[in-house]
Parts: sequence; C-alpha cells; structure tokens
Amino acid sequence: MGFEMKTEKDVLSKDQCKVKSPNPNSVNSPHIKKKKKKKKNKSKKTKKTSPPRKRSDSPADEITAVRRLFDTCKEVFSDGGPGVIPSLDKIQQLRDILDNMKPEDVGLTPTMPYFRPDYGPESKSSPPITYLHLHQCEQFSIGIFCLPPSGVIPLHNHPGMTVFSKLLFGTMHIKSYDWVVDAPMSISIAVRDSKTRLAKLKMDSTLTAPCNASILYPEDGGNMHRFTARTACAVLDVLGPPYCNPEGRHCTYFLEFPLDNFSSEEDNVLRGEVEKEGHAWLQERDDKPDDLNVVGALYTGPKVED
Ligand SMILES: [Fe+2]
Repeated sequence: MGFEMKTEKDVLSKDQCKVKSPNPNSVNSPHIKKKKKKKKNKSKKTKKTSPPRKRSDSPADEITAVRRLFDTCKEVFSDGGPGVIPSLDKIQQLRDILDNMKPEDVGLTPTMPYFRPDYGPESKSSPPITYLHLHQCEQFSIGIFCLPPSGVIPLHNHPGMTVFSKLLFGTMHIKSYDWVVDAPMSISIAVRDSKTRLAKLKMDSTLTAPCNASILYPEDGGNMHRFTARTACAVLDVLGPPYCNPEGRHCTYFLEFPLDNFSSEEDNVLRGEVEKEGHAWLQERDDKPDDLNVVGALYTGPKVED
C-alpha cells in the first residue's frame, strides 16, 4: 500500500520522486570500510595485544531489525524501476527479513492511541488509520499503517510495483484482485465504460499475526487490494518503486461490482464460466473514497538509517 498524506497516495506519492537517494559516501555507509593505519611492531618481542572489540559491546553498533530491513531494501531494489520485479533470490531475502519482524522492532505496541476504537475525530464513516513514514527514496518506500478495529483501506492499486506487506499484529481481512488480460470479447464489449475492467479475485482471506509477509507484483499476486481490520492491527509495507504522480504512478481507488452488473443476457454461458472462478468489475473512482480516512504521524521507532 501507499496512500495520500491523509491516505497512502499523498503520504507516499507526494514529491517522493524528488527525494534524493541516500548518500553512498556517508561515513556510516555499510559499503565504506574504515581504513586503519597498521603500525608495524618492528621489535616483535611483545606480541601481546588487547582483545578485539565486539560490535555487540556497544548498543550503538548493533544492527537493529529495521536497519537490516532498510539495508536489504537498498540491495533488493537497487536495480528496480516501474514494472521491474526483483529476482527470486532478492525477493526471498527481503521476505526472510519481514517474516521475522515484530511490532517491537518498529517501536509499536497494541496499546498505543492509534489502535483505539475511539482514536481521532468521528467525522468519517470509518475510524482513522495512521500512517507512519519510515523511509522514501526513488527506489522504494517503507511505511506502517496502524488500523483500529473496523479500519478500512479501500480497494486501490499499485501500478508497476512489487509490494511486501507484513502484518505485525492483529487480525486483518484482505481482498485482492488482478486484471483479466484475456477477457472474452463478448464480455469486454458489454462494458462501454473505459474506467471499468474485469478483474479476477486473487485473495479473500483473513490473516492473524504472527504470519508471513504477503507479496504482490505489477501484474499478479493481487495488485489491487482492500484491507479491513478485524481487530486493531499494524501492517508494515514496502513498495518498490513507490507511488510517484509525476511519473504516472498514481494510487487509484476502485468500486467493486458483481459480474452481472455490466453483462448482457446473451453472455449467460460465458458469464457463468467466468463467475465460477471468482470475478468482479472494478470501476475507477473519480474522487477520494468516503470511507478513506488516513492521517500521517511521526515514526518514533528505532532509527531506519544514519
Ligand atoms: Fe496497498
């Protein structure tokens, strides 16, 4: 996911294309090895040396889970771009990191205000969802959605992206679709609205943490999805590349209609075959969904980068 400042779209897409990449020459870059001058002991009579320092001796030197995630994302998405899927090895590398991440790795506890049913103003139809922004660069973005019970992230897409979603705690329902690219002609022509397309159901399931990360791809894996919080829950999202309005990667929201809505009577046979596999019409929304209620908040967990 990735939404507007009040939603994934704004928060993750606004100006993100202008964000500079991390400075590879940073003193703390893992790619820069600190060179130490070696002093040769010419006498060699006293070989006694002090024991080597362990990295773990200093808390500041410990590599946190979120730092490991950030470093891995840099590697996984280094050659990324719109429509580019990382190699299987890289996907597995990032999946392994995410599968083992826990709420405490990003400074979250279910008792935080974001997760209360009565959090925020009651001006919307669904309770407010809080987005915590961790990182954003040209290659990828990392963020967390904090959902109180009944919180909804409406059906939306991820154009040209590979997205990793890790449920950190709680129970969440996910419904996702992919476009049907080879729809029967008779069904396709039944819809004269250019903003409505046939989609195939990919997932309609409820997840409870701890569970593994789920992944969607530019053309499959459930590129369009909706999250509904059954209990308070938190989802860590990694998007590669991020939303970027100037580059045409907008976050688009959709309305969902049963297959019968746009099909004619003559399509009975074909429609019957398609229905069995779970299909729906997805219609692009012109405006922001009424039930979309996402607000940004400051991430206060462990440092993501130096
Ligand atoms: Fe999403």
